[in-house]
Amino acid sequence: MTTLRTCVFPCAGFGTRFFPATKVIPKEMLPLVDKPILQYGIEEALGSGMDKLIVVLSKGKDAILDHFDRTSELERSLQERKKNDLLDEVETVSRMADIISVRQKEALGLGHAVLQAKDAVGCEPFAVVLPDDVILADEPCLLQMRHVFEETGRPVVALMEVLPEETSRYGIVGGNMLGNRRFHVTDMVEKPKVNPPSCYAIIGRYILPPEIFPLLEKTERGAGGEIQLTDALRELVRTGDFYGYVFEGKRYDAGEKLGYLKATVDYALRHPTLGEEFRAHLEALIGGEEQHGQTLRHPRRA
Ligand code: G1P
Repeated sequence: MTTLRTCVFPCAGFGTRFFPATKVIPKEMLPLVDKPILQYGIEEALGSGMDKLIVVLSKGKDAILDHFDRTSELERSLQERKKNDLLDEVETVSRMADIISVRQKEALGLGHAVLQAKDAVGCEPFAVVLPDDVILADEPCLLQMRHVFEETGRPVVALMEVLPEETSRYGIVGGNMLGNRRFHVTDMVEKPKVNPPSCYAIIGRYILPPEIFPLLEKTERGAGGEIQLTDALRELVRTGDFYGYVFEGKRYDAGEKLGYLKATVDYALRHPTLGEEFRAHLEALIGGEEQHGQTLRHPRRA
């Protein structure tokens, strides 16, 4: 079996769920505490053994490439001022990964975005990470899925159980649970309005064979008038075994405001240098010691 080393990051969406913040700034560049959202996905892919990273961009998203590029002037200035800690941080990011970029010239949906990576991927299996789906886990979610792929040689998608009323927001799989967090997928529907085939939603992590590309080329516009990855996967399911993996970890939808806030709080509480003080602040805030955003350092005596 060919080694899995390629990961595709579709980053071409408009980020409308986060307007107006993302009118100009790519949503993938919004910080979760002190790193842009995309960096978490890149670190997950690197931590899962992938080293060929492909981002699918649209116009106005070049800040993403700049973030992972060398910034010689900044590095020189930090060096001269002997700001070695900051220099280390900047260099870590620019040395983290060499990134291949491809463009999605029209906003035709996730399936179309993945298809733009066809030539860059070549004839190998590859992973797809949707950067909005940030997953906090002891073992990176992609690595958990990689074990299933390496054992079976078959496609794998990440699954999470959702409430029945939430199924219309996701790609939902049909099939049966095999045990050991594995699900044998026999069907799937993108954002079912009625009769979802199960309560297991596809979360933005996929391990796919290159055979998905000809299927994507044939896929017509589906839900929301877009070329859906789920519709091409549905065709792939018909060609052989296809697995879902109910990953261990916590997933946040950082592409919308509330999910982003929740993720920010969780990551901030776990942050090695900020966590403790932030926790104390939250406790004080919730305990009512703060009013109107101002700390009452010297509460007036009654
Ligand atoms: C995409 C996929 C959907 C999946 C979801 C996970 O939808 O099309 O199948 O369940 O990501 O976040 P989107 O959220 O881009 O509408």
